[in-house]
Amino acid sequence: MHAKHMEAALKIAFDRMGATSPNPPVGAVIVRNGSVVATGGTGPCGSDHAEVVALSRAGGECAGADMYVSLEPCSHYGRTPPCTEAIKRAGIARVFVPALDPNPIVSGRGIADLSRAGIDVVLMEEMAEYAIELIRPFKKYILRHRPFIVSKSAVTLDGRIATKTGDSRWISSEYSRCLAHRLRAKVDAVMIGKNTFARDNPALNVRLSSFGDEVSRFFRETAPKMIGRENFFLKLLASGDMTALHDPLRVVVGLPGDIDMTSNVMADGNYLFFERSEIVDRLVREHRPLARAIGGINLHRIDTVSPDEEARAISEELARRGIMFAMLEGGGRLAGSFLDAGEIDQFIYVIAPKIAGNGLPPLAGSGVDAIADAMALKDVSVMPLKEDIVYTGYREQYHFETM
Ligand SMILES: NC(=O)c1ccc[n+]([C@@H]2O[C@H](COP(=O)([O-])OP(=O)(O)OC[C@H]3O[C@@H](n4cnc5c(N)ncnc54)[C@H](OP(=O)(O)O)[C@@H]3O)[C@@H](O)[C@H]2O)c1
Repeated sequence: MHAKHMEAALKIAFDRMGATSPNPPVGAVIVRNGSVVATGGTGPCGSDHAEVVALSRAGGECAGADMYVSLEPCSHYGRTPPCTEAIKRAGIARVFVPALDPNPIVSGRGIADLSRAGIDVVLMEEMAEYAIELIRPFKKYILRHRPFIVSKSAVTLDGRIATKTGDSRWISSEYSRCLAHRLRAKVDAVMIGKNTFARDNPALNVRLSSFGDEVSRFFRETAPKMIGRENFFLKLLASGDMTALHDPLRVVVGLPGDIDMTSNVMADGNYLFFERSEIVDRLVREHRPLARAIGGINLHRIDTVSPDEEARAISEELARRGIMFAMLEGGGRLAGSFLDAGEIDQFIYVIAPKIAGNGLPPLAGSGVDAIADAMALKDVSVMPLKEDIVYTGYREQYHFETM
């Protein structure tokens, strides 16, 4: 019964992913006499946290009730007052928590504050792994002040993201492409390189309805099966209907001199180009149309020299803008420079049963000489998706916070 209510709180947290940054997505469920009386999810940054949303919905039903929260309640004054105060005031009797808040100013203090007030706090360690899976981006953001970055690629069985001519549409099935759109709805920013921008003119928005009824039905009705470790985030991503959808910030790394101002990325103002200052100045000198348009382009200039320094500078700037979770969507040179910079936290590769024979690699970084020096991924999961295979792993292992 406790597990079922905590699962419901975790599902709410997942539903809120992409809409709370740089706050963590959290879900709360209030149960009284065995019945759910209210639920709540974290609102956009600056508005109420999940606990307060659920408490205000439950009203007078809170006294003596149990609360299941997907993350330790906060105990400090941030943009909003402490959730622990609201829980105490409402008369909640027991609070179930699967994981401590990785934020050093909260970690353990939220639980201690509730316990001091006589509230019974139950740490559900058996569900910690699920909870932490959903707050990996927040954990990186709060501890290292940079976004959590996932590199996602569709690759042929022989490891190519495009043919030798650069053609890549489409490598994976429409089911896998729909999964990529579902992932876009969970991240705060999607990044592509200049060549992908020029070659593919991608829209980089969330268009689940464009995949048709059969694909929607598949995700609604099929329970994802994983080989190896069950990745809770991937499981939720690949199952059920997705309701709260938001379009991420569209980021292009590299400014083309012959930029097409009618490109899909620039369809509205929710986009950003990054380019090195010296290159912007040269392009403006050499391209008259760009010189005329430059003032109207959302452009962030960077004063670095190498691509990997640029990748680090981009991460820092995105964090400054409140981006907690970002996805690299190609191509290989962009992902390669982020890998070299040590900025990639998770890899999601969709492997499709096609052979290109030659072509572009998913990561065109500096590489290693010996396999012993290759990055060994942690917390690896494999999920068949129709005829494709979704393969994911992290740079770092999940870590349970203890007091
Ligand atoms: N299968 C998939 O999942 C998938 C997804 C997306 C794209 N693609 C395919 O990938 C191909 C493009 O990949 P690509 O590797 O050629 O290019 P890319 O990564 O899209 O763009 C790389 C270019 O961006 C510029 N750039 C500026 N700053 C950079 C930095 N810090 N790091 C890296 N690049 C930086 C560089 O241009 P300058 O050298 O001019 O400075 C560089 O050549 C296309 O064929 C596309 O269809 C496949």
